Amino acid sequence: MDAAPSTPGPALGIALVTGACSGIGRALAEQLGARGHDLILVSQRPAELAQTAAAITARHGVSAHDVVCDLARPQAAEELFAAVHARGLSVDILVSNAGFFFFGEAVDAALPQANAMLQLHVVTPSLLCTLFGRPMRARRRGHILLVSSISAFRDVPSISYYGSSKKYLRGFAASLRSELGVYGVNVTCLTPGATATALYDPNVVPVDLATRLGVMMDAKEVAAAGLQALFERRAECIPGRMNRLLAHTAALLPQAVIDAARRHAPWLPPIKQPPR
Ligand SMILES: NC(=O)c1ccc[n+]([C@@H]2O[C@H](COP(=O)([O-])OP(=O)(O)OC[C@H]3O[C@@H](n4cnc5c(N)ncnc54)[C@H](OP(=O)(O)O)[C@@H]3O)[C@@H](O)[C@H]2O)c1
Repeated sequence: MDAAPSTPGPALGIALVTGACSGIGRALAEQLGARGHDLILVSQRPAELAQTAAAITARHGVSAHDVVCDLARPQAAEELFAAVHARGLSVDILVSNAGFFFFGEAVDAALPQANAMLQLHVVTPSLLCTLFGRPMRARRRGHILLVSSISAFRDVPSISYYGSSKKYLRGFAASLRSELGVYGVNVTCLTPGATATALYDPNVVPVDLATRLGVMMDAKEVAAAGLQALFERRAECIPGRMNRLLAHTAALLPQAVIDAARRHAPWLPPIKQPPR
């Protein structure tokens, strides 16, 4: 159900945000609304989605359409594209943000969870770029923001599925940017570091403590940095000075140091060792 009557999008263009009900996606949607963009908000929770759409419309006076979709299914991208088309809307800004996280070694992963992560982080964002990128290329304008992660900069044990899928997204964004840039369509990759959101199970990751210690950023700051980079047509954005330092330093370290640092991080779930 739409939160506001369907009206033609303003000259600013319509922004579609996946994972728009919470965390970084919610902040991105709010800030795009504040900039005057009409919105298409996507999530798998109908009630939260309708509430989010209504709140953004009330605050910023933009239209906010909601589309309920589980993006971790193989046919999700085509269904979402068809749903947007059926409403007569055209997307000028695509923000692929939806994601989830789990700790665990790859061989221990539950197959449905691993499969869902690859669908949500790899298949669906790629196909959304193909489907929504085609009309952008034809119109010779548009923006695509792909939300990857700082974990894309190194290969970290215990997050093989998460980190590698985010690494794929970062690479995909870079080559898509080259392909579409010559048509005037901008592609930016947002690679946040640790951010205080519902992504983490608070029983596993001490989100409150990390926030108090300044280790985790606020989702609003991350979103603001991402949108600034997007509209400045930058290739990539690592929000936060500490995260930029971390990403660039980590890129110089041997893999053995990354492995050792992860294995000896007492605040993260332990990695198994073979019995002696
Ligand atoms: N928080 C961090 O430290 C951090 C760091 C780097 C990168 N990121 C990335 O930032 C993005 C946003 O995460 P967040 O931190 O803001 O966490 P979040 O608050 O948990 O938000 C994740 C969003 O993804 C949506 N989502 C998850 N599974 C979905 C599915 N199957 N279909 C449709 N939507 C789905 C969720 O919507 P529903 O509620 O409807 O499921 C939710 O709105 C993710 O891609 C994440 O990997 C986060």
